[in-house]
Amino acid sequence: MPGKIEHTVVVGGSSGIGLATARKLLGSGMKVTITGRSQDKLTSAWKSLGGAAEKAAFDASKPDEVRHFFGELGPFDHLVLAASGGKGLGPFETLDLSDIAGGVDEKVRPQLSCLQAALPTLNRSGSVTFISAVSAQLSAPGVAGIAAVNGMLLTVVPILAVELKPLRVNVVAPGVIDTPWWDFLAEDQRQAVFSEYAGKTPVGRIGRAEDVAGAIAFLVSNGFMTGQVLTCDGGLRFAA
Ligand SMILES: NC(=O)c1ccc[n+]([C@@H]2O[C@H](COP(=O)([O-])OP(=O)(O)OC[C@H]3O[C@@H](n4cnc5c(N)ncnc54)[C@H](OP(=O)(O)O)[C@@H]3O)[C@@H](O)[C@H]2O)c1
Repeated sequence: MPGKIEHTVVVGGSSGIGLATARKLLGSGMKVTITGRSQDKLTSAWKSLGGAAEKAAFDASKPDEVRHFFGELGPFDHLVLAASGGKGLGPFETLDLSDIAGGVDEKVRPQLSCLQAALPTLNRSGSVTFISAVSAQLSAPGVAGIAAVNGMLLTVVPILAVELKPLRVNVVAPGVIDTPWWDFLAEDQRQAVFSEYAGKTPVGRIGRAEDVAGAIAFLVSNGFMTGQVLTCDGGLRFAA
């Protein structure tokens, strides 16, 4: 008898790492639902997946929309939390400390709020994978604020792995990855940052969304992995 087809929801699946993860999981035979705020982005992501995924638009920073989405969804097996945030970058001396609260509001609360709303229908034999960032593991100048935000996700994962057992709870910490996350920079600035980090990174390049998608797919599929931080950074953590 063929096995059950598992269903993964990728929150923030319309772009970058989330979209690459959706593609990878669809390729392994899973059912996948991608979400994001922008209907246009979702439609173009859905087309790029050959129409093979389900899609739903909601804002993960709005608790009512989160509850509504998960309330309507029905049972599912895996949750990947890739909604982005970017606040908190810059030298500490001039850092606007309200950016730390802003970073929590746009990344940490949405990820936690999705997990909380998902719990009644998320298969406890399945998994949740948060996305943090290697900034929380580096001693690099200029990342204290964004590290404070992303560090919260690294901290809660081992606790939730025990509290929510047998649900597996993991987190991926990506290094510098070429995705639309960097679109806040002009093209020439972005290329300068990418080549600076490629030079610092032991593997000699920055990451691709597919690199991180592979790490996420591993955590989703390996039933003996829980409470783990999987850093996917080309070795940047040890060199920056
Ligand atoms: N790229 C990097 O170098 C890097 C490094 C370390 C960590 N990360 C982390 O990796 C994760 C994925 O980032 P990415 O690089 O793939 O960025 P991305 O290409 O900008 O993708 C972000 C995705 O999240 C969705 N999203 C953002 N805010 C949302 C919200 N409030 N509700 C629902 N969906 C939301 C976006 O769609 P809409 O805009 O339409 O909502 C999009 O689908 C983020 O948590 C980011 O912080 C990235």
